[in-house]
Amino acid sequence: MTERGQFATRLGAIAATVGSAVGLGNIWRFPYEAGQHGGAAFIAIYLLCVVIMGVPVIVAEFVIGRHTHKNVCGALRQLSPGGKSHWFSAVCITASILIISFYSVVCGWIVEYLIQAISGKLISAQDHNAEFEQFVADPYRSVLWTVLFLIANFLVLRRGLKNGIERVANVMMPLLFVLLMVFCVNSMLQPGAEKGLKFLFSPDFSAITPHVAIGAMGQAFFSLSLGLSCLLTYASYFKDSDSLVKNATVVAILDTLVAVLAGIMIFPIVFSYGMTPEAGPKLIFEVLPSIFQQMPGGYVLSILFFFLLFMASITSTISMSEISIAYFGEELRMSRSNASLLNTALAVVLGALCALSFGVLSEFKIFGMTLFELFDYVSSNVLLPLGGIFFSVLMGWVIDRRLVEDELSNHGKLKVKMARPIIFCLKYVAPISIVLVFLYGLGAFNWLL
Ligand code: PHE
Repeated sequence: MTERGQFATRLGAIAATVGSAVGLGNIWRFPYEAGQHGGAAFIAIYLLCVVIMGVPVIVAEFVIGRHTHKNVCGALRQLSPGGKSHWFSAVCITASILIISFYSVVCGWIVEYLIQAISGKLISAQDHNAEFEQFVADPYRSVLWTVLFLIANFLVLRRGLKNGIERVANVMMPLLFVLLMVFCVNSMLQPGAEKGLKFLFSPDFSAITPHVAIGAMGQAFFSLSLGLSCLLTYASYFKDSDSLVKNATVVAILDTLVAVLAGIMIFPIVFSYGMTPEAGPKLIFEVLPSIFQQMPGGYVLSILFFFLLFMASITSTISMSEISIAYFGEELRMSRSNASLLNTALAVVLGALCALSFGVLSEFKIFGMTLFELFDYVSSNVLLPLGGIFFSVLMGWVIDRRLVEDELSNHGKLKVKMARPIIFCLKYVAPISIVLVFLYGLGAFNWLL
């Protein structure tokens, strides 16, 4: 059985949690979602989701995790009436494995591009679009990189909480912020940078459709790592002296900051080099490399860029994996090594299938989606919000209010002004808005329009 540890320092706990939140969701997905869907209008809806649903649900997961100091299944068994809702841990573990599977495919692409950047191949390529299309459709290369990435992920996880997860986060998170700042400054210095900023920040409310609103909520959940007990699991390693509300606020602010900075890093250079941002998901693999090619210092910048993405993504996959590793360790009594191995084996099998969905399996569709798209859609737009409803209802309605207040105030040692508004949001605002956005997206209110 794994030994239950704690993060060594409060800073380490925050670095690891921010590491979980900051990932491809911020640097890869947020900028193009915002760019394509109304710029500042999208960002406004996103921020609203972070404040009224994001922070309260983070706090809910933190309270449950830190109070029980257990994996998701053990925590739900201890806190739900009669231990009955521990079945929900199966949903969390499934969602986490689905996410790692499609997420590590993109991480694999990042590793390939990092190596190409180092070897100078990226900078000298002729046609980046064709190269990328060819690469993702190549069954051997894309599977290989996905698997190699998952092995790197495994090597960190096997070393355990303090020597693996916390140490990596302590090094990578500050470095990530420094690199991001360097890129933002470089980007703002490009001629015509304002155009990119305008694209990102000028509000276009007419672009906000139900689809976009549901997308903004899904994005907030995904970016904050919410609803699948990832934060619950990390909080189970927090010290009893940490302030949960403070930690939650810091995580939400830093995560949002990175998303906005990523937009500032990307769009000004895209416009300045006469490119269009419509490429969406392929932007960072097709458009940016060709920009680095023309930019002074492009060789070094391309290496740093893909290294930044690598750091952002591995600290996230580590956190997704920890959900099942904690479960395998504590409920199935596996050693840390075996638990990490089982998690990696599951991710390798499903990840390889997702990687192939860009090539040989591209015609294999379920509900009109490839496996990659299906895993992404089901986890971010369905399972994570469901998890959000579950955890907010559990904490707002089911768990004894005194326990919640005790946990938020560290047994009366802290004065927490935000406790009431947070509980209010968990009781009413978060579950109702999540359900409404769902129904809206399903067309339930079309008769009103
Ligand atoms: N928050 C991560 C990102 O923005 C993704 C993630 C989702 C991580 C769910 C853990 C759990 O990329």
